[in-house]
Amino acid sequence: MVLVREVGPGIQWVGAIDWDRRLFDALIPLPDGTSYNSYLVKGSEKTALIDGVDTSMVDVLLENLESLGLRKLDYIVSQHAEQDHSGAISKLAKVYPEAQILASARCMDLLVAFSLIPPDRVREVKNGEKVSLGDKTLEFIHVPWVHWPDTILTYVPESKVLFTCDFLGSHLATSDLYANDEARVYKSAKRYYAEIMMPFRTQIQKHLARVNQINPEVIAPSHGPLYRNPKFILDAYADWSSDKVKNQVVLPFVSMHGATKAMIDYFTDALISRGIFVQSYDLTKSDVGKIAESLVDAATVVVGSPTVLAGAHPAAIYVAFLANALRPKAKFASIIGSYGWGGKMPEQISQAISNLKVEVLQPVIAKGYPKEEDLKALDRLADDVASRHKGMGIL
Ligand code: FEO
Repeated sequence: MVLVREVGPGIQWVGAIDWDRRLFDALIPLPDGTSYNSYLVKGSEKTALIDGVDTSMVDVLLENLESLGLRKLDYIVSQHAEQDHSGAISKLAKVYPEAQILASARCMDLLVAFSLIPPDRVREVKNGEKVSLGDKTLEFIHVPWVHWPDTILTYVPESKVLFTCDFLGSHLATSDLYANDEARVYKSAKRYYAEIMMPFRTQIQKHLARVNQINPEVIAPSHGPLYRNPKFILDAYADWSSDKVKNQVVLPFVSMHGATKAMIDYFTDALISRGIFVQSYDLTKSDVGKIAESLVDAATVVVGSPTVLAGAHPAAIYVAFLANALRPKAKFASIIGSYGWGGKMPEQISQAISNLKVEVLQPVIAKGYPKEEDLKALDRLADDVASRHKGMGIL
């Protein structure tokens, strides 16, 4: 089956919708699938394809191009070398032997390394460089670290369409070409931001300013629907990537025999009764993407763990490691948990989140099931969190 959709005069969506993909990078759950958006831009003299699709769906892209009777392709713009965009390029390069692949220098290196593209098929495009297609122009904007060092955006000024690759995208399989259901897209885009973009918040802020300056009429990412209302996604990114945190606590925890869970439950209620929004996740049942999404805004993160084999539970270490890599903007952190005969659980968790620029509030660690004094300590920790949030003017 062929699906080609018009984005504007001379610009067509020729990508693939992956309704059934459920995992990305063997790490990130995709509850709503994704799409690999590829765009054909036809100028009066030359034709360019912007981004390919995932390796697994190259035939879908080729059939879409075939349906348009495309016999010759002048350029393949590889905005980013990751396989979900460039996996199809090696086959495309064979089908369209005259096509020159345009990419940043970093991307060229990665295309050769990962997709085994012959180096002589790739030409570097510099930041700000323009390539004419006749009555349309491709302008390239380098945006390193969204989320690899190689990424470029492509702007077609005559159409005011900005192609943004991973930046501003969402893992969402939908029949909507555009983000018509903004509430649904907001959720997917936020989760996507959390999983992929959050570690690069500072770079994101800089690149957002550049996109605002360009002021495109349409933003066309390479995953999820396009934006006819760019302000929607630009405002959302400005909020997520800002330094502002919200009156929220994220509580990822694991409990073996109920002691840590009893402490987490008590602490959750203590926070709620102090007017704090809480998101609590049992790590044996939770989706890491959802936890990542919760980390976007939260002022405080508290990890709950029992002590096992003299240290933290591996599930708690896993989430601490993940949070450490995602580098959320949280300002405070703490640890809650239990032990039987000793161990270094709190030290291990503190060490695992050493990248986070947080103040660590006094952990509460109970020997066995929490007693009266442990509950009082949890109340003190809840008071401490509330007073820090008040001090920041968010409670
Ligand atoms: Fe959509 Fe970085 O790949």
